[in-house]
Amino acid sequence: MSEEPILVEIKDGVCWITLNRPDKLNSIDSETMRRLYEVLDEVEDDPKVRCVVIRGSGRAFSAGADVDELMKLTPEEAEEISKKGHETMMKIYSMPKPVIAAINGYALGGGCELASACDIRIASEKAKFGQPEIKLGIIPGWGGTQLLARLIGVGRAMELILTGRIIDAEEAYRMGLVNKVVPHERLEEEVSELAKALASGAPIAMAEAKRLVNLGGSLEVGLDEEAKAFGRLFATEDSKEGFKAFKEKRTPSFKGV
Ligand code: COA
Repeated sequence: MSEEPILVEIKDGVCWITLNRPDKLNSIDSETMRRLYEVLDEVEDDPKVRCVVIRGSGRAFSAGADVDELMKLTPEEAEEISKKGHETMMKIYSMPKPVIAAINGYALGGGCELASACDIRIASEKAKFGQPEIKLGIIPGWGGTQLLARLIGVGRAMELILTGRIIDAEEAYRMGLVNKVVPHERLEEEVSELAKALASGAPIAMAEAKRLVNLGGSLEVGLDEEAKAFGRLFATEDSKEGFKAFKEKRTPSFKGV
C-alpha cells in the first residue's frame, strides 16, 4: 500500500499537516490535493484545533503541482485542476484560524502558492522560492497570479512570475514573501513556539482580524467592516477575560466564546 500523501497530527491545539511525498519533493497530485482539502475542511470545524501548520517531509516544502500528471492534461482538465487548487487555497485563506507555512526547502510553483495562501511564513535558511511555471510554457494556476501580487506587490510578483527566477530565503525575506528566516535545525522549534502562542490567542478576535486583513476591496468598506467587528468583539467573554487578565497582571485564558 502506498504512503499517505498527507499526515495529520494534533497536539496542544495545533494541527500539523505534513505533505508526505518526499521522494517526489512533495509535489502535489490530484489525490494529494483532494486529501489536503479534506483535512483542512475537517480542522476548520474541529474545536480542538486553534492553529494550523503546513510543512513538508524530507528536503522540500513542495516542488509544486505534479508535473507527470500536469503534462497529460487536456485544457478542460487543466482548468478543473486549477479550480480544485483554488478551493484549497481559499479554504486556507478564509479559514477562521491562523495557518502557518513552515518552509523547510523548495517552495516552487504550487508549493509557493500554498505558502502564499497561509497567514504567516517561517522559512529555513535552506528554503527556495519561485513560480517557475513560465518555463513550462504555462502560468501559476493555484492562485499565484493573485496571491503573490497581494503579498509582495505587483512589481515583484510580476518579475518572479514572468522570469520563473528561483530566490533564496534571504531574498524572499527582503521581498516580504516570508516573515522570518531561521537556521534549518531550528525551524520546527520556532514554528512550534509561534503556533502554540497563536493557539492560546483569542479565537474570535483572531478570526475577525484575519478576515479583515484579507478582505481587500475599498478602504471605506474595510473600515466599516472593521468597526462592526470591533463592536462585536466587545460582546465576547474573551474580551472581558482579556481586559480582566491585563488588570490582574496575569496571562489570559481564552475560550473562544
Ligand atoms: N512534479 C513531479 N515530480 C517532481 C516535481 C514535480 N513538480 N519536482 C520534483 N519531482 C521529482 C523529480 O522528478 C525526481 O523524481 P525521480 O527521482 O523519480 O526522477 C524527484 O522529485 C527529485 O527531484 P530532482 O529534480 O531529482 O531533484 P533536484 O534536487 O535535482 O531538483 C528541483 C530539485 C525542485 C529544482 C527540481 O525537481 C524541479 O525543478 N522541479 C520542478 C519544479 C517546478 O517546475 N514546479 C512547478 C510545476 S508547475
